[in-house]
Formats: sequence, C-alpha cells, structure tokens
Amino acid sequence: MNAFHRTLAQARAEGRALLAFNCYNLESVSAAVAVAARTGTPLIVAHGERYLENIGLRAMRALVTALVQDAGCGGLVLLHLDHSASPELCIQAAELGYDSVMYDGSHLPYAENLTNTAAVVQAAHSLNVGVEAELGALGIGDASHEFETGHEALTDPAQAQHFAAETGIDALAVSIGTVHGLYRSAPKLDLERLSAIAALVPLPLVLHGGSGTPRDALNAAIRLGIAKINVNTEVALAGSAAVLARAQVLGPGQAHAAALGLAQQEAMTASMLGYVRPGH
Ligand code: 13P
Repeated sequence: MNAFHRTLAQARAEGRALLAFNCYNLESVSAAVAVAARTGTPLIVAHGERYLENIGLRAMRALVTALVQDAGCGGLVLLHLDHSASPELCIQAAELGYDSVMYDGSHLPYAENLTNTAAVVQAAHSLNVGVEAELGALGIGDASHEFETGHEALTDPAQAQHFAAETGIDALAVSIGTVHGLYRSAPKLDLERLSAIAALVPLPLVLHGGSGTPRDALNAAIRLGIAKINVNTEVALAGSAAVLARAQVLGPGQAHAAALGLAQQEAMTASMLGYVRPGH
C-alpha cells in the first residue's frame, strides 16, 4: 500500500485529518515544512496544476526533498499533485516521485471521469503512488484560485460507492457544502450526506475548501470520515497581506524582495499553524 493511502487510512481510523496546504513557491513550502518540523504533525504539500507556472514538477520535488532534509522532518511531509485535469501530468508527477496525485475529472461526464481515473490509478499504483479523485463540484467563494465549473453539485453517496469500488482510488474528495475560496455567507455542511457517503465508502474522504470553514464544522466532518482537509486561500492571503504591510513600512526604495519573502513565509507559517493547532 502506498504512503498516501496508508497515512490517510490510519488518520480516518483514528478520527484525525491531515492538512494539505497548497504550495507554489519557496516561501509556502518553507512554511509547510517549518510547521511539520515544529509540531511533529504529518502534513501534505499540495502543488496545484495551476501553479506549474510558479514552479515545475521536478523543481517542486527537489525543493520539498531538500527542505525536509534540512529541517530533519523526514516522513512527515507528503508531496501531492493537487487538482490536475490531465492524466498525463498525473503520471509524470508519479514518475518524478510525488507521493500522490489528484486526478480531477469531476467536470466530466461520470463514465469518462471513471475511465480516466481508473487509468491514472493503474499507472500510479504501479509506481506505488496514491491517487485522489473527486465526485461532485464545490461552489465558488471570494478570492478562489481553483478552476471552477460555476455550479455546486453535491456528491451522491451511491455514485461515490460505485466510483470508489470501480476505480481503486486511495481517497475520495467530496462536495458537501464547502466552497473554494472565502465564504460569502455562513457555510452549512451537509453532514447527513457525508455520513451516508462514509457508510458506503470505506476510504479516507477529502474535504476541499478548508479556508474559513469553522473549526467545529471541520471537527464534525473529521468525526464522520474526512481524513484530509485542503487549505489554500486563507494562507495565501495571509502571506500577501504581510508582504503588502512590510513593503509599506519599508517604502518603495527600501522594500528588498528578500525581506518581503521572509515576511510572506512568517505569515504563512502562522496561518498554517492555526489550522494544525487551532487556538495557538
Ligand atoms: P480553499 O482555497 O478554500 O482553502 O480551498 C483549497 C482547496 O480545496 C485546494 O484543493
């Protein structure tokens, strides 16, 4: 069994969830590795397909490996390709040593999503790499950075059961009321639906759209089988706010990019820590 499946299955069995933070530059990866090293908590560096412009697959693999070695937190940080609509890219990431990939065919007709996902699973598993897939579609919130279908579609429990059994995936992302980005109104998670999915799908379940979701809602979802929670927007905005503030203090003639990078990293670390250790 691959490390992604093993780690998440153990988390679901123990009523825990791993945080998966989107990372796209030195500052965000440094922040995630610092959080793992400081807390001893396993977590996932999630590299979204849309961030290939910021950093390529090979460079990201090398960066994570080097920073984890330097921090001495081996075994705690998994590298994951997040939201990829390309089976070829998923296989490339698997060949480059990513621990897991998310093939996202949720926008496709069901049969096509199933066929493509099963093909990615077969290739990835031959390399001992885990696969996450998604059924349903999340709504869109403010400042979202994900590709959106434009409409929310909640995951159907019976379809989820069929999909998991037919594809052999390691984890299933579900749509139960969270949104990508910041909420425009108070989130209301469909926990009954999650409970029905969890009863039919024995796999670790994944909750996208972690940003701004109240802690008690996250905890309730974890109790029902969510074993991975994805967070992007809130950490990114915390990093940007710190850069803007530091640049303003230093002034245009003095705002060295190196100083702004450190400000970004510090703020991202604090934001991620808030998820790993709520209340600290
Ligand atoms: P948020 O940006 O809402 O935290 O969602 C992140 C996500 O689900 C990445 O896959």
